[in-house]
Amino acid sequence: MKVLVIGGGGREHAIVWALAKSPRVSEIVCAPGNAGIRQVCLHNSNRPVRCVPVDAGDLAAMLDLVQAEHPDLTVVGPELPLSLGLVDALQRLELRAFGPTQAAAQLETSKSFAKEFMRHHDIPTAAYAVCTTLAEVRQELPRFSAPIVVKADGLAAGKGVVICQSHAEAEHTAAQMFSGALLGSVETYVVLEEFLNGEEISFFALCDGKHAVALAAAQDHKRLGEGDTGPNTGGMGAYTGDGLLSAPMEQWLLNNIAQRVVDEMALDGTPFHGILFCGIMMVPQRDGTTQPMVLEFNTRFGDPETQAILMRLQTDIVDLFDAAIDGSANKLTIQMRPGTSVCVIAASHGYPGKYTSGLPISGLDSVHDPDTVVFHSGTALKDGAIVTAGGRVLGVTAVSSPSSSASSALQDALGKAYGTLGGISFQGMHFRRDIGWRALRDGL
Ligand code: AMP
Ligand code: GLY
Repeated sequence: MKVLVIGGGGREHAIVWALAKSPRVSEIVCAPGNAGIRQVCLHNSNRPVRCVPVDAGDLAAMLDLVQAEHPDLTVVGPELPLSLGLVDALQRLELRAFGPTQAAAQLETSKSFAKEFMRHHDIPTAAYAVCTTLAEVRQELPRFSAPIVVKADGLAAGKGVVICQSHAEAEHTAAQMFSGALLGSVETYVVLEEFLNGEEISFFALCDGKHAVALAAAQDHKRLGEGDTGPNTGGMGAYTGDGLLSAPMEQWLLNNIAQRVVDEMALDGTPFHGILFCGIMMVPQRDGTTQPMVLEFNTRFGDPETQAILMRLQTDIVDLFDAAIDGSANKLTIQMRPGTSVCVIAASHGYPGKYTSGLPISGLDSVHDPDTVVFHSGTALKDGAIVTAGGRVLGVTAVSSPSSSASSALQDALGKAYGTLGGISFQGMHFRRDIGWRALRDGL
């Protein structure tokens, strides 16, 4: 079958890499793709992979591409095309597409929608207020004690959440969101939220409109600097492994969050198909137990979590996509390679602020370990050479050896990823050296 993948980051590279292993796939087209995606067929299989320079944010251009390519399946990676209704448009053309409709994607594209949904359906989340004016913000603020989390309603590429240390800062931030001064676009809704303390987990469920099944849990590292310091980024690294969540906790998240979302979305007439990414804060309670609380929903695979997760996925990824589209996820057995995998992001100097692109990358040809893959996040080809083309540039991803013990699996995967990263360089390359630090601290 011919598969079209929409997107051009590390997540899409990992999806294309997994598709290229499937005996069911004969051809892959990626829009817009990147320099690493172009090379997948050279390294991993004899299935042709083509990148086409179509912007994932241009709905009309994507539909033209679909009409020209006639894919048997379209997989939508990022949130932007979901928010534009790409899956709805493909369904109207009676084409198979993996991902939620525009209405179902509101769980991610509107924070006020997600918060009201959780409140109506008793899904644990932080106390909040949705405000439409600054006067409402002033009225609601006294209910919250600092720090206060102020969130823009819509998609904001990771910049729409500000943790404010005082009421004055919260009011100022909300004012800037309403005026457009903060994000460049005017917000109609601003969400004020109670600050939650704890450890964050990304929990991924595959959903088919009726059933949610657990895919994996991962831990992202959102801050730029070691020890979780500095500004928030799209994610500087992630790990996934057997010890991250206990089996009872995974079952709790599945039953009380993911399956409840799927049930209620179906009842509301907006069935959810695709990946439900639950951003969870594990909040310690006074009695020693842990209460998982939902920070946010995303309606797609995470980046860089996906790079780590797909390195361990043993089930054919096309079977996952088919099950989500056809309503048969409950019949699917998802097999993961035992052990741990990690993804370490190499970013451009200046990221998440301004950075320079077009810098040559060296050392990419020296990776020969089958348990390590360098996924490209922001790269391009210039005069035949691979150059930087984004804030996050590479995601060096490694999986532990089957022979490593449970206690050494993370160290094993980290050793491979950092060993590989040591041979790669570009001017100003920055990466965190402490991916997985919480798990190492906890002896997982
Ligand atoms: P979101 O886009 O809602 O996931 O927010 C981005 C990041 O902000 C999350 O990954 C958390 O690190 C942080 N965050 C969001 N909401 C809260 C909250 N209520 N309490 C503490 N941190 C939060
Ligand atoms: N890694 C966080 C995200 O994909 O939103």
